[in-house]
Amino acid sequence: MVNQKPFHKTHIFLSLLVFTNVALLVTSKSTIEPCANSDSCNALLGYTVYTELKVSEVASLFQIDPIALLTANAIDISYPDVENHILPSQLFLKIPIVCSCVDGIRKSVSTHYKTRPSDTLASIADSIYSGLVSADQIREANSISDPSVLDVGQTLVVPLPCTCFNGTDNSLPAIYLSYVVTPVDTLAWIAARYSTTLSDLMNVNAMGSTAIKASDILAIPLPACASNFPRYAADYGLIVPNGSYAITASHCLQCSCGPGNLNLYCQPASLAVSCSSMQCRNSNLMVGNVTVQQSGGGCNVTSCNYGGFVNSSIITTLSTSLQPRCPGAQKFPPLIAPPTSVIRDTTFAPSPAPQSDGAGGTGAPKSSSSVPSTTSMLPGLAPIGGPAGSASGSASDACSLINPLANFPTAVLLLLYVKFMMAIL
Ligand SMILES: *[C@@H]1O[C@H](CO)[C@@H](O)[C@H](O)[C@H]1NC(C)=O
Ligand SMILES: *[C@@H]1O[C@H](CO)[C@@H](O)[C@H](O)[C@H]1NC(C)=O
Ligand SMILES: *[C@@H]1O[C@H](CO)[C@@H](O)[C@H](O)[C@H]1NC(C)=O
Ligand SMILES: *[C@@H]1O[C@H](CO)[C@@H](O)[C@H](O)[C@H]1NC(C)=O
Ligand SMILES: *[C@@H]1O[C@H](CO)[C@@H](O)[C@H](O)[C@H]1NC(C)=O
Repeated sequence: MVNQKPFHKTHIFLSLLVFTNVALLVTSKSTIEPCANSDSCNALLGYTVYTELKVSEVASLFQIDPIALLTANAIDISYPDVENHILPSQLFLKIPIVCSCVDGIRKSVSTHYKTRPSDTLASIADSIYSGLVSADQIREANSISDPSVLDVGQTLVVPLPCTCFNGTDNSLPAIYLSYVVTPVDTLAWIAARYSTTLSDLMNVNAMGSTAIKASDILAIPLPACASNFPRYAADYGLIVPNGSYAITASHCLQCSCGPGNLNLYCQPASLAVSCSSMQCRNSNLMVGNVTVQQSGGGCNVTSCNYGGFVNSSIITTLSTSLQPRCPGAQKFPPLIAPPTSVIRDTTFAPSPAPQSDGAGGTGAPKSSSSVPSTTSMLPGLAPIGGPAGSASGSASDACSLINPLANFPTAVLLLLYVKFMMAIL
């Protein structure tokens, strides 16, 4: 991970005033990480798509590579014309961003937004950027004196929350997701959904109690595979969350993480691009190739590994080790089809197999507890289109009609309802 001057996780829970509605004044908390140097790290934003948008449109909202958006969400990039695929409203996505150190705190400042007619600071903050930023923060970042007058076509800096925490959580590699709490979330539910513990979440966010409020922003550590590329590599600090992929080396390589172990595994990407040599010196192995040889003392494993993108060339390293047992074939995180409907957890958790999702039970409390509904709800555990090769297509089709009411939309409806009630009071 990005090397930083050693510092202990210092977390300050900063209260920010967020105006989400003229009539509704909410004090939201956000986890702030102080920082002292110019290093940056990779981080993720938990983003809820505010209307039907193409993959490329979501990517351009954050000025990121559409491929990076897809791989971060374990969406199969080999689908024809996948960048123009239309994502459903209310889909939850992980947006990969670069987290910098600005004025002593971690934030992402690489996102710009060009205003359109009928935009207000509140609509940009609450809707277009799904609560990841407040109207006040946009106002401050752009020194806007009169927020009621927004010129159409004005380019605004959109400061977004992120944390690095040295790329570790309890000394293990981790990448941090900035997560906007929804009205129906509980901390226990969030912990279960992201396979972490309450105490870990509370430590990371310096919380004294498990109380959370809608529109608080939490830093959620996701276990990840860290790279150890040299500092001068263009992709220095690459870190890939468990269950997903990243494309690197000028689209020549894809590196995946999990599910079996948390060692970054890189191999040639299937994108049609011209690439420099990927062969390990003094061998006929290509990046990602592993040969095993059973010998008396154990298993002789030789692998050709990726070592970073330096001066537009792919660095390779050949490694040989004697292991007690031969490793099985490399397993890959399951890919999902580009989502066409919003379906509970599998929509945004790139990795879980259908069983693990059910076993985690992460969906249950949320959809059924606090929200009264006139529509019956199905368990709805089918993944969107299913991981490649699974036979869940018809199940997810069947679910798509009821699911829009089952999870995030419910949260949003509730939020709108609450806002509406507040507005008339
Ligand atoms: C930061 O992470 C590196 C490994 O990525 C580790 O060696 C170092 O101890 C960590 N520093 C702190 C202060 O946690
Ligand atoms: C090495 O990797 C390349 C590309 O991933 C693959 O086509 C080839 O079959 C592999 N060779 C061996 C010996 O595993
Ligand atoms: C392991 O295999 C490599 C290449 O196949 C060979 O050079 C090396 O001598 C072998 N090591 C052992 C301990 O067998
Ligand atoms: C990259 O190339 C430049 C000149 O083209 C050279 O000065 C530099 O040392 C190279 N860096 C590495 C790490 O090889
Ligand atoms: C990584 O994800 C897989 C499911 O995709 C899960 O089984 C495994 O426990 C995860 N590993 C860690 C360290 O969280």
